[in-house]
Amino acid sequence: MNSQSGIVEHMNEAGELLLHIDPERVPAWAAALRATLAEMPLRIWPDRGDPDQIRYALLWKPPPELFDGLHNLQVIFSVGAGIDHLLSCTTLPAHVPVVRMVEPVLTAGMVEYVIYNVIRFHRRMHEYDVQQRQAQWQVLPQVTAGDLTIGIMGLGVLGEAVASMLTKMNYRVTGWSRSRKSLPGVRSYVGEPELLKFLSDAQILVMLLPMDETTQHILNKGTLAQLPSGACVINAGRGGLIHENDLLNALDKGHISCAALDVFETEPLPEAHLFWRHPNVTVTPHAASLTNPVTAVQFVAENIRRHQNGKRLKHTVVPTDRR
Ligand code: GLV
Repeated sequence: MNSQSGIVEHMNEAGELLLHIDPERVPAWAAALRATLAEMPLRIWPDRGDPDQIRYALLWKPPPELFDGLHNLQVIFSVGAGIDHLLSCTTLPAHVPVVRMVEPVLTAGMVEYVIYNVIRFHRRMHEYDVQQRQAQWQVLPQVTAGDLTIGIMGLGVLGEAVASMLTKMNYRVTGWSRSRKSLPGVRSYVGEPELLKFLSDAQILVMLLPMDETTQHILNKGTLAQLPSGACVINAGRGGLIHENDLLNALDKGHISCAALDVFETEPLPEAHLFWRHPNVTVTPHAASLTNPVTAVQFVAENIRRHQNGKRLKHTVVPTDRR
Protein backbone atom coordinates (compact mmCIF):
# COMPACT_ATOMS: atom_id res chain seq x y z
CA MET A 1 0.00 0.00 0.00
CA ASN A 2 2.75 2.37 1.06
CA SER A 3 4.84 1.69 -1.99
CA GLN A 4 1.74 2.08 -4.19
CA SER A 5 0.99 5.51 -2.81
CA GLY A 6 4.69 6.27 -3.24
CA ILE A 7 4.35 5.56 -6.94
CA VAL A 8 1.25 7.74 -7.20
CA GLU A 9 3.04 10.57 -5.46
CA HIS A 10 6.01 10.21 -7.80
CA MET A 11 3.74 10.23 -10.84
CA ASN A 12 2.01 13.38 -9.64
CA GLU A 13 5.36 15.01 -9.12
CA ALA A 14 6.46 14.07 -12.64
CA GLY A 15 3.16 15.33 -13.98
CA GLU A 16 1.26 14.25 -17.04
CA LEU A 17 1.77 14.71 -20.76
CA LEU A 18 -0.97 16.12 -22.97
CA LEU A 19 -1.02 15.14 -26.65
CA HIS A 20 -2.85 17.05 -29.36
CA ILE A 21 -2.46 15.81 -32.92
CA ASP A 22 -4.69 14.95 -35.91
CA PRO A 23 -7.03 12.11 -34.85
CA GLU A 24 -5.72 9.65 -37.43
CA ARG A 25 -2.21 10.04 -36.01
CA VAL A 26 -3.23 9.51 -32.37
CA PRO A 27 -2.89 5.69 -32.19
CA ALA A 28 0.73 5.59 -33.40
CA TRP A 29 1.78 8.53 -31.20
CA ALA A 30 0.00 7.22 -28.14
CA ALA A 31 1.62 3.80 -28.59
CA ALA A 32 5.08 5.33 -28.98
CA LEU A 33 4.61 7.57 -25.94
CA ARG A 34 3.31 4.74 -23.76
CA ALA A 35 6.23 2.54 -24.80
CA THR A 36 8.92 5.14 -24.16
CA LEU A 37 7.48 7.23 -21.34
CA ALA A 38 5.66 4.44 -19.56
CA GLU A 39 5.96 6.15 -16.19
CA MET A 40 4.19 9.31 -17.32
CA PRO A 41 0.39 9.32 -17.58
CA LEU A 42 -0.72 10.35 -21.06
CA ARG A 43 -3.72 12.56 -21.70
CA ILE A 44 -5.08 12.79 -25.22
CA TRP A 45 -6.96 15.94 -26.12
CA PRO A 46 -9.82 16.67 -25.44
CA ASP A 47 -9.39 14.60 -22.23
CA ARG A 48 -7.15 16.73 -20.02
CA GLY A 49 -8.05 14.94 -16.79
CA ASP A 50 -7.05 17.25 -13.94
CA PRO A 51 -5.46 20.23 -15.78
CA ASP A 52 -3.22 20.89 -12.76
CA GLN A 53 -1.41 17.61 -13.45
CA ILE A 54 -0.34 18.58 -17.00
CA ARG A 55 3.37 19.46 -17.01
CA TYR A 56 4.25 18.73 -20.64
CA ALA A 57 2.35 19.13 -23.90
CA LEU A 58 3.20 17.62 -27.29
CA LEU A 59 1.23 19.55 -29.84
CA TRP A 60 0.34 20.04 -33.46
CA LYS A 61 -1.97 22.97 -34.23
CA PRO A 62 -3.51 23.30 -30.75
CA PRO A 63 -6.95 24.93 -30.42
CA PRO A 64 -6.88 28.11 -28.28
CA GLU A 65 -8.92 26.51 -25.47
CA LEU A 66 -6.29 23.80 -24.96
CA PHE A 67 -4.20 26.09 -22.75
CA ASP A 68 -7.11 27.18 -20.48
CA GLY A 69 -6.17 26.57 -16.86
CA LEU A 70 -2.93 24.65 -17.58
CA HIS A 71 -1.25 26.45 -14.67
CA ASN A 72 1.51 23.88 -14.23
CA LEU A 73 2.51 23.49 -17.86
CA GLN A 74 6.30 23.61 -18.03
CA VAL A 75 7.36 22.62 -21.55
CA ILE A 76 5.59 22.67 -24.92
CA PHE A 77 6.93 20.30 -27.60
CA SER A 78 6.14 20.79 -31.26
CA VAL A 79 5.28 17.64 -33.20
CA GLY A 80 6.96 19.22 -36.23
CA ALA A 81 10.19 21.06 -36.96
CA GLY A 82 8.21 24.26 -37.53
CA ILE A 83 6.62 26.07 -34.60
CA ASP A 84 4.48 28.58 -36.51
CA HIS A 85 1.43 26.41 -35.72
CA LEU A 86 2.12 27.14 -32.02
CA LEU A 87 3.10 30.80 -32.33
CA SER A 88 -0.09 31.55 -34.24
CA CYS A 89 -2.16 30.22 -31.32
CA THR A 90 -3.34 33.36 -29.52
CA THR A 91 -3.40 31.67 -26.10
CA LEU A 92 0.11 30.19 -26.21
CA PRO A 93 1.54 30.90 -22.73
CA ALA A 94 4.44 33.31 -23.19
CA HIS A 95 6.47 32.02 -20.23
CA VAL A 96 6.52 28.33 -21.21
CA PRO A 97 9.51 27.15 -23.26
CA VAL A 98 8.73 25.82 -26.73
CA VAL A 99 10.85 23.00 -28.14
CA ARG A 100 11.22 22.32 -31.86
CA MET A 101 11.19 18.75 -33.10
CA VAL A 102 14.78 17.94 -34.03
CA GLU A 103 15.53 14.30 -34.59
CA PRO A 104 17.57 12.38 -37.17
CA VAL A 105 14.73 10.60 -38.98
CA LEU A 106 12.82 13.85 -39.58
CA THR A 107 16.01 15.48 -40.83
CA ALA A 108 16.81 12.52 -43.10
CA GLY A 109 13.33 12.67 -44.64
CA MET A 110 13.81 16.33 -45.51
CA VAL A 111 17.23 15.68 -47.01
CA GLU A 112 15.71 12.91 -49.17
CA TYR A 113 12.89 15.15 -50.40
CA VAL A 114 15.19 18.02 -51.33
CA ILE A 115 17.92 15.87 -52.90
CA TYR A 116 15.33 13.99 -54.95
CA ASN A 117 13.99 17.25 -56.38
CA VAL A 118 17.40 18.81 -56.92
CA ILE A 119 18.50 15.77 -58.93
CA ARG A 120 15.20 15.70 -60.78
CA PHE A 121 15.61 19.30 -61.92
CA HIS A 122 19.36 19.13 -62.43
CA ARG A 123 19.08 15.99 -64.59
CA ARG A 124 15.93 17.32 -66.28
CA MET A 125 13.88 14.27 -65.33
CA HIS A 126 10.75 16.45 -65.27
CA GLU A 127 11.37 17.22 -68.95
CA TYR A 128 12.04 13.57 -69.82
CA ASP A 129 8.70 12.70 -68.16
CA VAL A 130 6.96 15.03 -70.61
CA GLN A 131 8.96 13.66 -73.55
CA GLN A 132 8.00 10.11 -72.65
CA ARG A 133 4.31 10.93 -72.69
CA GLN A 134 4.82 12.26 -76.23
CA ALA A 135 6.98 9.26 -77.28
CA GLN A 136 9.74 11.77 -77.99
CA TRP A 137 13.35 10.47 -78.11
CA GLN A 138 15.51 13.51 -77.56
CA VAL A 139 18.69 13.81 -75.53
CA LEU A 140 18.87 17.04 -73.52
CA PRO A 141 22.17 18.76 -72.67
CA GLN A 142 23.65 17.64 -69.37
CA VAL A 143 25.57 19.82 -66.93
CA THR A 144 27.69 18.60 -64.04
CA ALA A 145 26.72 19.13 -60.41
CA GLY A 146 29.69 21.46 -60.04
CA ASP A 147 28.19 23.75 -62.66
CA LEU A 148 25.01 24.30 -60.68
CA THR A 149 24.48 26.59 -57.73
CA ILE A 150 21.91 25.45 -55.20
CA GLY A 151 20.83 28.26 -52.89
CA ILE A 152 19.30 27.27 -49.58
CA MET A 153 17.16 29.85 -47.80
CA GLY A 154 17.31 28.91 -44.14
CA LEU A 155 20.33 27.21 -42.62
CA GLY A 156 18.81 25.74 -39.47
CA VAL A 157 19.12 22.06 -38.64
CA LEU A 158 17.30 20.99 -41.83
CA GLY A 159 18.97 23.49 -44.14
CA GLU A 160 22.38 22.58 -42.80
CA ALA A 161 21.78 18.86 -43.33
CA VAL A 162 20.62 19.48 -46.89
CA ALA A 163 23.64 21.72 -47.55
CA SER A 164 26.02 19.10 -46.23
CA MET A 165 24.60 16.40 -48.53
CA LEU A 166 24.63 18.70 -51.55
CA THR A 167 28.29 19.62 -51.00
CA LYS A 168 29.15 15.90 -50.83
CA MET A 169 27.48 15.55 -54.22
CA ASN A 170 29.72 18.34 -55.57
CA TYR A 171 27.03 20.96 -56.11
CA ARG A 172 28.00 24.59 -55.52
CA VAL A 173 26.07 25.44 -52.41
CA THR A 174 25.12 28.81 -50.99
CA GLY A 175 22.94 29.60 -48.01
CA TRP A 176 21.01 32.61 -46.79
CA SER A 177 20.24 33.06 -43.11
CA ARG A 178 19.78 35.62 -40.38
CA SER A 179 23.24 35.15 -38.93
CA ARG A 180 26.54 34.25 -40.61
CA LYS A 181 27.10 30.48 -40.85
CA SER A 182 30.35 28.75 -41.32
CA LEU A 183 29.60 25.41 -42.93
CA PRO A 184 32.22 23.52 -44.94
CA GLY A 185 31.86 24.27 -48.65
CA VAL A 186 28.84 26.55 -48.21
CA ARG A 187 28.97 30.24 -49.10
CA SER A 188 27.04 32.13 -46.46
CA TYR A 189 24.91 35.19 -47.21
CA VAL A 190 23.30 37.13 -44.40
CA GLY A 191 20.21 39.27 -44.02
CA GLU A 192 18.49 41.79 -46.22
CA PRO A 193 21.67 43.42 -47.61
CA GLU A 194 22.92 40.13 -49.08
CA LEU A 195 19.61 38.67 -50.21
CA LEU A 196 19.65 39.88 -53.79
CA LYS A 197 23.22 38.74 -54.39
CA PHE A 198 22.34 35.32 -52.93
CA LEU A 199 19.29 35.02 -55.19
CA SER A 200 21.10 36.13 -58.32
CA ASP A 201 23.29 33.00 -58.25
CA ALA A 202 20.71 30.41 -57.16
CA GLN A 203 19.82 28.22 -60.13
CA ILE A 204 17.88 25.92 -57.84
CA LEU A 205 16.40 27.67 -54.82
CA VAL A 206 15.48 25.60 -51.78
CA MET A 207 13.12 27.21 -49.25
CA LEU A 208 13.62 25.92 -45.71
CA LEU A 209 12.99 29.08 -43.72
CA PRO A 210 10.76 29.23 -40.69
CA MET A 211 7.55 31.16 -41.19
CA ASP A 212 7.12 34.45 -39.36
CA GLU A 213 6.30 38.05 -40.17
CA THR A 214 9.85 38.64 -41.45
CA THR A 215 9.73 35.76 -43.92
CA GLN A 216 6.14 35.98 -45.12
CA HIS A 217 6.09 36.31 -48.93
CA ILE A 218 9.85 36.67 -48.95
CA LEU A 219 9.71 35.12 -52.38
CA ASN A 220 7.61 37.57 -54.37
CA LYS A 221 7.58 39.35 -57.72
CA GLY A 222 10.68 41.39 -56.84
CA THR A 223 12.78 38.61 -55.34
CA LEU A 224 11.73 36.04 -57.95
CA ALA A 225 12.96 38.47 -60.59
CA GLN A 226 16.44 38.35 -59.01
CA LEU A 227 16.78 34.62 -59.61
CA PRO A 228 18.62 33.59 -62.78
CA SER A 229 16.37 33.05 -65.78
CA GLY A 230 15.13 29.44 -65.84
CA ALA A 231 15.68 28.87 -62.11
CA CYS A 232 13.80 26.15 -60.22
CA VAL A 233 12.15 26.55 -56.83
CA ILE A 234 11.72 23.88 -54.17
CA ASN A 235 9.55 24.83 -51.18
CA ALA A 236 9.59 22.50 -48.20
CA GLY A 237 9.36 25.28 -45.58
CA ARG A 238 5.93 26.89 -45.39
CA GLY A 239 3.49 27.97 -48.07
CA GLY A 240 3.39 31.55 -46.79
CA LEU A 241 7.06 32.06 -47.68
CA ILE A 242 6.03 32.41 -51.32
CA HIS A 243 3.56 34.82 -52.89
CA GLU A 244 1.74 32.15 -54.86
CA ASN A 245 0.34 34.36 -57.62
CA ASP A 246 3.75 35.93 -58.20
CA LEU A 247 5.24 32.44 -58.55
CA LEU A 248 2.51 31.43 -61.01
CA ASN A 249 3.22 34.53 -63.10
CA ALA A 250 6.96 33.84 -63.06
CA LEU A 251 6.29 30.22 -64.12
CA ASP A 252 3.94 31.33 -66.90
CA LYS A 253 6.54 33.75 -68.22
CA GLY A 254 9.19 31.00 -68.09
CA HIS A 255 11.46 33.04 -65.81
CA ILE A 256 11.01 30.20 -63.30
CA SER A 257 11.16 26.93 -65.20
CA CYS A 258 9.81 24.55 -62.58
CA ALA A 259 8.75 24.28 -58.97
CA ALA A 260 8.40 21.44 -56.47
CA LEU A 261 5.98 22.56 -53.78
CA ASP A 262 5.17 20.64 -50.64
CA VAL A 263 3.56 23.44 -48.62
CA PHE A 264 0.90 25.98 -49.46
CA GLU A 265 -0.80 29.08 -48.08
CA THR A 266 -4.01 27.07 -47.76
CA GLU A 267 -3.77 23.39 -46.92
CA PRO A 268 -5.14 21.10 -48.20
CA LEU A 269 -4.45 22.89 -51.48
CA PRO A 270 -7.90 23.87 -52.82
CA GLU A 271 -9.09 21.72 -55.73
CA ALA A 272 -9.34 24.74 -58.04
CA HIS A 273 -5.82 26.01 -57.32
CA LEU A 274 -3.77 26.48 -60.50
CA PHE A 275 -0.74 24.70 -58.98
CA TRP A 276 -2.54 21.35 -59.24
CA ARG A 277 -2.62 21.39 -62.99
CA HIS A 278 0.36 23.59 -63.85
CA PRO A 279 2.64 21.62 -66.21
CA ASN A 280 5.80 22.85 -64.47
CA VAL A 281 4.70 22.39 -60.89
CA THR A 282 4.94 19.28 -58.77
CA VAL A 283 2.60 19.20 -55.79
CA THR A 284 2.99 16.99 -52.73
CA PRO A 285 0.60 17.18 -49.74
CA HIS A 286 2.90 18.57 -47.01
CA ALA A 287 4.64 15.22 -46.94
CA ALA A 288 8.31 16.11 -47.51
CA SER A 289 9.20 14.65 -44.14
CA LEU A 290 6.65 13.25 -41.75
CA THR A 291 7.56 13.15 -38.08
CA ASN A 292 8.10 9.51 -37.12
CA PRO A 293 6.44 8.89 -33.75
CA VAL A 294 8.87 6.22 -32.58
CA THR A 295 12.02 8.27 -33.10
CA ALA A 296 10.41 11.61 -32.28
CA VAL A 297 9.25 10.32 -28.91
CA GLN A 298 12.86 9.44 -28.04
CA PHE A 299 13.71 13.11 -28.46
CA VAL A 300 10.72 14.19 -26.36
CA ALA A 301 11.53 11.66 -23.63
CA GLU A 302 15.17 12.70 -23.52
CA ASN A 303 14.17 16.33 -23.13
CA ILE A 304 11.59 15.55 -20.44
CA ARG A 305 14.26 13.67 -18.49
CA ARG A 306 16.65 16.57 -18.91
CA HIS A 307 13.99 18.94 -17.65
CA GLN A 308 13.21 16.73 -14.66
CA ASN A 309 16.91 16.58 -13.80
CA GLY A 310 17.29 20.34 -14.00
CA LYS A 311 19.35 20.25 -17.21
CA ARG A 312 18.98 22.61 -20.16
CA LEU A 313 16.36 21.61 -22.70
CA LYS A 314 17.59 20.89 -26.21
CA HIS A 315 16.30 22.94 -29.15
CA THR A 316 14.15 25.43 -27.32
CA VAL A 317 13.13 28.49 -29.26
CA VAL A 318 14.69 31.61 -27.83
CA PRO A 319 12.15 34.21 -26.65
CA THR A 320 13.27 36.79 -29.27
CA ASP A 321 12.22 34.31 -31.97
CA ARG A 322 8.76 34.11 -30.42
CA ARG A 323 7.63 37.62 -31.26
C1 GLV B 1 6.23 19.99 -40.74
O1 GLV B 1 5.80 20.81 -41.48
C2 GLV B 1 7.12 20.27 -39.66
O2 GLV B 1 7.07 21.40 -39.13
O3 GLV B 1 7.90 19.38 -39.30
